[in-house]
Amino acid sequence: MEKLGPSSEVSPGSLRGFTVGGKKILVANIGGAFHAMDAVCSHMQGDLTRGRLEGNVVTCPRHGSRFDVTTGKVVGNVSFLVKTATGKVATDLKTYRVTVQDGSLFVDL
Ligand code: FES
Repeated sequence: MEKLGPSSEVSPGSLRGFTVGGKKILVANIGGAFHAMDAVCSHMQGDLTRGRLEGNVVTCPRHGSRFDVTTGKVVGNVSFLVKTATGKVATDLKTYRVTVQDGSLFVDL
C-alpha cells in the first residue's frame, strides 16, 4: 500500500490528484467515501484531476468524456465529431482500493 496524504485534503464532493509509483491517480471523496482511479483520460491523456466532479462522475476537461470514479467505467463518451476527428474513443479506466488509517489515505496499486 502506498501512502498518499491526509484524508482531510480531499473534502466531500471534491477530488485531488496524486502521483504515486510513477502513476497519476485521482482520489475522489463521494459523501465521505474515498475512491481512486487513473487520472489520465484514456481518450487522449486529458488530466482528469482538472475535470468537474458531479456526484460519482468526473468529466474530462479536454473533450468531455465522463467516467464513474467508483467503477472507472465510461458513462459518456466523446462526441461523434471528436471520435471522427481523433479516430479514438475513451475506454474504461482502472480503479484502486483506498483505505484510511490514522487520518491518512493509502492506495493499493
Ligand atoms: S482527452 Fe479526455 S475526452 Fe479527450
